[in-house]
Amino acid sequence: MEVAMASETMKNLLAQMTIEEKVAQCMQLSPFFFPGTKVEGEVTGPLAELELTEKDVQLVGSTLGSSSAEEMIAIQEKHLETSRLNIPLLFMADVIHGYKTVFPIPLALGASFDREAAEEMAAVSAKEATADGLHVNFSPMLDLVRDPRWGRVMESTGEDPYLNSELGVAMVRGYQGKTADLEKDYTKMAATVKHFAAYGQPEGGREYNTVDMSNRELYQNYLPAYRAALDAGAKLVMTSFNVVDGVPATMNRWLNRDILRGEFGFDGVLISDWGAIQEVINHGTAADKREAAKLAITAGVDIEMMTSCYMQNLQALIEDGELEATILDEAVLRILTLKEELGLFQDPYRGLKANDRQKEIFSEEHRNIARIIAAESAVLLENKAHTLPFAANQQVALVGPLADSNDVLGGWTVYGEKEQAVTLEAAFQETFTNSAIIPTPYTTLTETHKAAIKQAVEGSDIVIAAVGEKTEWEGEAGSLATVRLPESQYQLVAYLHTLGKPVVTVLFSGRPIEIKELAENSEAMIEMWFPGTEAGHAVTDLLTGKANPSGKLPMSFPQTTGQIPIYYNHLNTGRPKTRQNAEERYVSKYLDIPNRPFYPFGYGKSYTEFEISDVKLSKTEIALGEEVTIRLRIKNSGSRAGKEVVQIYLQDETASVSRPVRELKGFEKVNLAAGEERQMQFTLTADDFSFYLPNLEKIQEPGRHRIFVGTSSLAPEVALIQIRKEESNA
Ligand code: BGC
Repeated sequence: MEVAMASETMKNLLAQMTIEEKVAQCMQLSPFFFPGTKVEGEVTGPLAELELTEKDVQLVGSTLGSSSAEEMIAIQEKHLETSRLNIPLLFMADVIHGYKTVFPIPLALGASFDREAAEEMAAVSAKEATADGLHVNFSPMLDLVRDPRWGRVMESTGEDPYLNSELGVAMVRGYQGKTADLEKDYTKMAATVKHFAAYGQPEGGREYNTVDMSNRELYQNYLPAYRAALDAGAKLVMTSFNVVDGVPATMNRWLNRDILRGEFGFDGVLISDWGAIQEVINHGTAADKREAAKLAITAGVDIEMMTSCYMQNLQALIEDGELEATILDEAVLRILTLKEELGLFQDPYRGLKANDRQKEIFSEEHRNIARIIAAESAVLLENKAHTLPFAANQQVALVGPLADSNDVLGGWTVYGEKEQAVTLEAAFQETFTNSAIIPTPYTTLTETHKAAIKQAVEGSDIVIAAVGEKTEWEGEAGSLATVRLPESQYQLVAYLHTLGKPVVTVLFSGRPIEIKELAENSEAMIEMWFPGTEAGHAVTDLLTGKANPSGKLPMSFPQTTGQIPIYYNHLNTGRPKTRQNAEERYVSKYLDIPNRPFYPFGYGKSYTEFEISDVKLSKTEIALGEEVTIRLRIKNSGSRAGKEVVQIYLQDETASVSRPVRELKGFEKVNLAAGEERQMQFTLTADDFSFYLPNLEKIQEPGRHRIFVGTSSLAPEVALIQIRKEESNA
């Protein structure tokens, strides 16, 4: 296979390289292996473990996780001193939801339903990360997720392929700018789409576990977001740890050669996940590192992250005639091309030697953006009797484990500093004239705590329960068998409820949790997720009404863990439960809980009210291939400004494969002043009516579709559309 985009300069460079030099380009190591870093000399242990020599390290092509411009410059300088052909190193890292300025976790960004917010988060992340010398970001993670037991749902934008696609595209734009900019605009970095593929569905929600689904399901729901981000120009893809149809993704030729490189036309760099090439031995699909190396490179994996199967074996495999040299050449050419696209051959320091950009990191401006986006991502779950917002001169009691905790950044904050985060305590002291703050531990509630709380609450008008998870309970390797907070936190909110003052629960979590008791014992409840650096400010902005909540759930909240997986876009059954048959035994239901989730996808309240009216379709009968336009009016009928997310869902009732009960096909967030009204328009294309057949062909069929328009996945049905047999001649 030819690398289509490669320049003559890169091809000439490749022609001058020895096999040894080529193989080393395909290896990635942590910065501490490199001469020039502060820990230089301490490499004996790790080097020996990887069976690498210092000479090997001199030739390596990229690093993972360096932490300052100074470090990058030191490593790059030393590297270029010994690089025979002056090939600069690439610096890669995980900048998942902000660099030093930490934004809300990706699941929260999903809740923003806001493309601009996602793009802005990514643009600020890239600006800060590149100011510290990074070139490639291991983001966005576009794994569709349906199982909140899996800790990494925090790193996804949720359970919907369309939402994930839209936000993934926005993030790629934010990180990379326009593709051509990377070479000139050093504030942009290359984006990596991960984890290819289907990493979001490990069995039982257990980290690194088996994934098994039909190929039709893979195409229908799991591949679209990766594809959309690649169509938007993302430069890299990372393989996933799991198997896909029994074959580990990292050595899966069908997945990487046929689908990724073939069908998707992806010509960029494919990198393994951490150690994933060597792990194919544990999967039982390679006998040793040599075979693992052969299988992975043959499947099209260009860079090996943090293990040394390639480094130790590719040269011998080629020399022994077991691997074609062109396969290695192709991988190296892609890596060189990425270096060229990033402008590294013109300036291996991307401007940082000449221009110190430290002031761009953690700036006031960036923190303000993070504050706005944190409020924008919060979801108002309950607001009985308009408890929220309330005036800053009220007497407030703030209790619970998050009352003074700085553990608000969330998982995957490699560079953010907890010490810099705004706690609730700090923000309450700034905002409220009178506040009593009683922090409690995450996992216990004693009689002494209760006594102190009681006293504080008695003297207050309102009580805020700040409850939730610790970062270590979510993120990678953060699987839980039961998606519950520690019992003491439910007990805390239940206890507060008995004290007779309105209880506002402010929840911090990296996943949907069992929330029923919290909802029952709270007058109001806001899901803050992990909001990032500006956590405290975002909370006080929301409580006082300076910000009006507009987030919507990107994942369904289960009634209880046993209901997982629960997601809105499920198929119907042959015996669906309905209002009429709910009491019958032989219908699809649980005997002990309802079928519906506790809170559905797309749900979230506001301090104001919105009314949708005059929904009109351009046509209710169309030919195959024809578009339909939906027009509607939306009015902010309340008394304060606010944003609403208008959502369009479709159901294909007569397809040749069973189709979901509804699927999101359009959304727009609108900002309306009190009393303001606006006309909106959505277009449904042939693609929106299409789906995959078992033979993986994507088609549109004639038949009947229901259309739902509203402000959550419970949106009411507004019309039926009939698609006729004949093709559109438009
Ligand atoms: C994660 C990746 C991450 C990589 C490098 C792995 O454990 O699965 O998402 O990019 O480490 O830090």
